[in-house]
This record gives sequence, structure tokens and C-alpha cells, in this order.
Amino acid sequence: MELIRTIAEAHDLVEKIRLSGRLIGLVPTMGALHRGHLLLVDEIRDHVDVIIMSIFVNPLQFGPNEDFDRYPRTLDSDVELAETVGVDYIFCPDVSEMYAGNVKTRVVVADLPNHLCGLSRPGHFDGVTTVVTKLINILKPHIAIFGQKDMQQAIIIQKMVKDLSLDVKIMTLPTVREVDGLAMSSRNNFLSEADRHEAVKLFQSLNFAKQMIVTGERDLFLIVEGIKNFITTGNSAEIDYIGLVDTETLEDLTELKDGSSVLIALAVKFGKTRLIDNLTIKIPVFEHVV
Ligand code: PAJ
Repeated sequence: MELIRTIAEAHDLVEKIRLSGRLIGLVPTMGALHRGHLLLVDEIRDHVDVIIMSIFVNPLQFGPNEDFDRYPRTLDSDVELAETVGVDYIFCPDVSEMYAGNVKTRVVVADLPNHLCGLSRPGHFDGVTTVVTKLINILKPHIAIFGQKDMQQAIIIQKMVKDLSLDVKIMTLPTVREVDGLAMSSRNNFLSEADRHEAVKLFQSLNFAKQMIVTGERDLFLIVEGIKNFITTGNSAEIDYIGLVDTETLEDLTELKDGSSVLIALAVKFGKTRLIDNLTIKIPVFEHVV
């Protein structure tokens, strides 16, 4: 496995790969790799000939009071892990290489960032779409893969690729979880033992909401309250948001229609650590007996 640190090296490499007729798969990450990242590699492997993983903690997607400085940077162990799952190249540029000069350009998707995480992280998704566009331009993958753990991000990237006619296929992978259900995340390591124990309530609360919906509850307020109480009872967890939204537009639903789908997404803070999770639920059609 080889490390690529500059854009010029990457251009040379992908030109050679493409000229030889091989398909390139891209797995964009910010490192601090866990099993979720490694399963992205497993998922894309059968569809491509060469796997490039990017590891880049992208300053553009962090707000001024967010955790850019303390975001875990573990390149040495990431390289070892990536090698075990058959990554061929790691693209790991410095910030000064990715954003040389006084960068003036942003790639902005309209509307979709104005919901869920975008509301509490202004500018975050503009940073994501800008860096992902750069990664696609630099590494010219035939396929790139993203996790459904960051569902809003995956939806925004798919829309960007379609709108800009980018020549890349986007795959997604369902959320990979710890045995107790907590979604794997590079930020889980920041949790205290007590908070780690409580954090399992994020996924449990989503399943609790699912249970409410499949047994006939249609009152959005009651479902949100149910989730809120489930998560915050007996701890210091602070709800950032709970959204029941349209699976395509991400707009807040005003009603739950039988036979449609709802994306329930939430963000919760344990001290300084903010965790997210989501679940898409198909709303059952009830037979109305007359
Ligand atoms: P990062 O948080 O490192 O995640 C990299 C990829 O791994 C994303 O597609 C994310 O959705 C996926 N992922 C993380 N945890 C997962 C889990 N438990 N199950 C399934 N997939 C999971 O997301 C980013 O980095 C950045 O925003 C990036 C796209 C790299 C742009 O900077």
C-alpha cells in the first residue's frame, strides 16, 4: 500500500490506473478508522479494481467552536488498518496542499443543508461538498462510497453529483453498529464510561419510535417527546435536534402518511461530544375495517 501526499502525485497515479482500464473506488474518510470505515472498503471492493482511501481532516467543514483541533489524528494505525482490508492507496494531503493559496470557491447545494445537522452546524455541508468535489476531481473514481450513518451527508452528495453531472457512481452502506447498537463513530472515544453507557439510548430511542409508528402512533409531537424522554431520562444528555423528515427533501413532515417513509434523525450532546444517528421507517398501511 502506498501513501499519496500531493495532488500532482495523485493525478499521475489515477491517469495510469485509468489508462490501464482499471476501475477506481474511493472511500473518503477523516481517519481515526473504525469498523464502519473498513466495511465501506469491503462493500466497494467487488465493484472496482483499485481502492483509494482518502484521510483528510477537512477544516472547511468544522465551525469555529467545533472540534477540528481535537479531532483524532491517528495516521499510523489507520495505515495499518487500511492495509488489512486491502486498500491500495491512501491519499492523505496536508491542509496546505488541499487548500493552497487563498481559496475562494465553495460548492454549495441549496436547501438540503437547511435541515437537521445543517441548522446546528452552519456551513458544515458546504465544507463537505467542497472537499468531496475536490476529492472526486483529484482521484477521479468510478465509484465513491458513503455511510448512511451520515444520512444527510449521503443525500446531499448524491444530489450534488446528479446536479453537477459528475462522472462518478455513489454507493451507500447501512450504519455499522457496536454490539449494543451504538453507531460506530470516531467521536465515540471521547465519551466517558458513563456517557458511553447512556449513548446506546440513541439507537434504542429510534427503535422505540419505530415501535410507536408501526403500532399506529401518528402524532408527531408525541413521537418526538417519546424519543426525547427516552434519551434524556437519568443522565445529562442534551438534545441538539430530533427530526422526522421527508427522506428526499429532508423537510419536516407535518403528518405521517400510511405507506410512505420517514427519516428520523437526531443529534445528542454528551458534554462536548455530539453524536448523531438515524433510522428510516416505512409507515405501515393499516386496513380500515368498516
Ligand atoms: P468520516 O466521519 O471519517 O466518515 C467517513 C465515511 O465513513 C462517511 O461516509 C461516513 O458516513 C462513514 N461512516 C462513519 N461511521 C460509520 C458507521 N458507523 N457506519 C457506516 N458508515 C460510517 O464523513 C466524513 O468523514 C467526512 O464528512 C468526509 C465525507 C470524509 C468529507 O470530509
